[in-house]
Amino acid sequence: MLVSMKAMLNAAYQAHYAVGQFNINNLEWVTTVLMTAKEMRSPAILGVSGGTIKHMLGFKTIYQVVKEGMEYLEIDVPIALHLDHGQSYESCIAAIQAGFSSVRFDGSHLPFDENLAITKRVTDYAHKRGVSVEAELGTIAGSEDGIVNSQVIYADPQQCLTLVKETSVDCLAAALGSTHGLYKGKAKLGFDEMAHIAQLIKIPLVLHGGTGISNEDMCHAIKLGTAKINVNTENMYAWCLEVKRLFAQQGDKAISDPRKVINQGLKPVAEKIKERMTLFGSANRY
Ligand code: 13P
Repeated sequence: MLVSMKAMLNAAYQAHYAVGQFNINNLEWVTTVLMTAKEMRSPAILGVSGGTIKHMLGFKTIYQVVKEGMEYLEIDVPIALHLDHGQSYESCIAAIQAGFSSVRFDGSHLPFDENLAITKRVTDYAHKRGVSVEAELGTIAGSEDGIVNSQVIYADPQQCLTLVKETSVDCLAAALGSTHGLYKGKAKLGFDEMAHIAQLIKIPLVLHGGTGISNEDMCHAIKLGTAKINVNTENMYAWCLEVKRLFAQQGDKAISDPRKVINQGLKPVAEKIKERMTLFGSANRY
């Protein structure tokens, strides 16, 4: 079932678990996330970043791959197809028109009033079509698909409340110390601020930059009201390490089928996604 994030995140929020957003990179990655979700009886969110939009030939192609793939694979757990880091009103609308069931408008780099105004326009358009919207405040440091931020800026609680009230977004990514990519040191999440914001806004919080956050911190964030956790870099690294291992073990000449290489790399990725679904508490919910 391709669905918006609304019902799946509200269910998670109420029962104190989180749904993983696993970014996709190619056809085989889509298959891996879908089949793992089905096996684990877990909802899942397929995240699509700017780099993947180009790599997988645009919103319409991605939507068709996911929609037809779900039918072919007989996927019977809730799946959301979500635009990650929508950089403009236009890109969010294009994703919705192509069939995406969820979008994130990332206006965190804009002045607050502008972020709020565009988030509201996106939400008005999306909600009329049954599509969910994630908004963002504060700055998540690190780098992701060419978007680079050098500093962490915590989301302001009052701005979070105003944004949620005036736009009716479905969930909020409030930056509170997490970083995209691999951490240089241990992530320091602002749990006091998270508790404060969660208590003010009373809608699901989103934790970006899942790679490098300890299991303990993830569980703590879920207890405080985080119902969506994004994970990407650890899966990309797992794929690359496995393919390097394969070539080192078998030698270049023994390998002649690219499909087998791609799928071998995805085996540890599937294991990592299973671990995440178990940790987040989303397994065996459907
Ligand atoms: P990581 O790449 O750090 O896991 O973050 C993923 C993410 O937040 C996608 O939006």
